[in-house]
Amino acid sequence: MDTPDALDTILTRRSIRKFSPRPVNSDLQKTLLRAAFAAPSAEDAQTKRIIVVTDRDTLDSLAVLHPSAGPAREAPLAFLICCDTSVTPQTIFWPQDCAAATQNVMLAARALGLGSLWCGIHPEDTREQAFMAAFDLPGMVRPVSLVIIGYPLQDFFDEERWEPKFVCQNRWGHPFEPVSLPAD
Ligand SMILES: Cc1cc2nc3c(=O)[nH]c(=O)nc-3n(C[C@H](O)[C@H](O)[C@H](O)COP(=O)(O)O)c2cc1C
Repeated sequence: MDTPDALDTILTRRSIRKFSPRPVNSDLQKTLLRAAFAAPSAEDAQTKRIIVVTDRDTLDSLAVLHPSAGPAREAPLAFLICCDTSVTPQTIFWPQDCAAATQNVMLAARALGLGSLWCGIHPEDTREQAFMAAFDLPGMVRPVSLVIIGYPLQDFFDEERWEPKFVCQNRWGHPFEPVSLPAD
């Protein structure tokens, strides 16, 4: 497998919803976890906690907890990314910390030739309660996202999404006009 460079990894990551049952070995699982914890964290509070889900019955049950988690019935792995809100220093930015970790896991997965799907939990209260009950989370541990992971049965591809109309320069309403520099 050719490993894409960092920019290609970002540009060709896509949500994958069809997975092979092929297991993801423990070295790759650890790499994905290292990527999660390498994410930026407000005040460096490191409140992230992750449940690695490999048990087949538990993976199969995820579709009952989340409307988009059907692909976990085929996938061999999922990460439940949570925040321990009792940790000090505490930060109001814990949802963003967990979102950054989620994105890091997905980008690392892409770089390793693995597919992933972000299933949003927080701030949907019903989903939070369902995951807290199913995974025995103590009250101070809040689930933020479920990431389903596995070898993809779909292709990765680049999709150009940025448009000049979505970008302003210096202040709202001023069109973005990049200036070429001589060194370019
Ligand atoms: C905060 C967040 C929550 C998401 N929740 C879901 C979800 O519940 N179900 C789902 O199928 N996809 C979910 N997604 C994935 C988006 O649908 C997907 O990223 C978007 O359609 C763009 O496609 P791409 O990931 O292939 O670029 C979520 C993405 C984000 C950032």
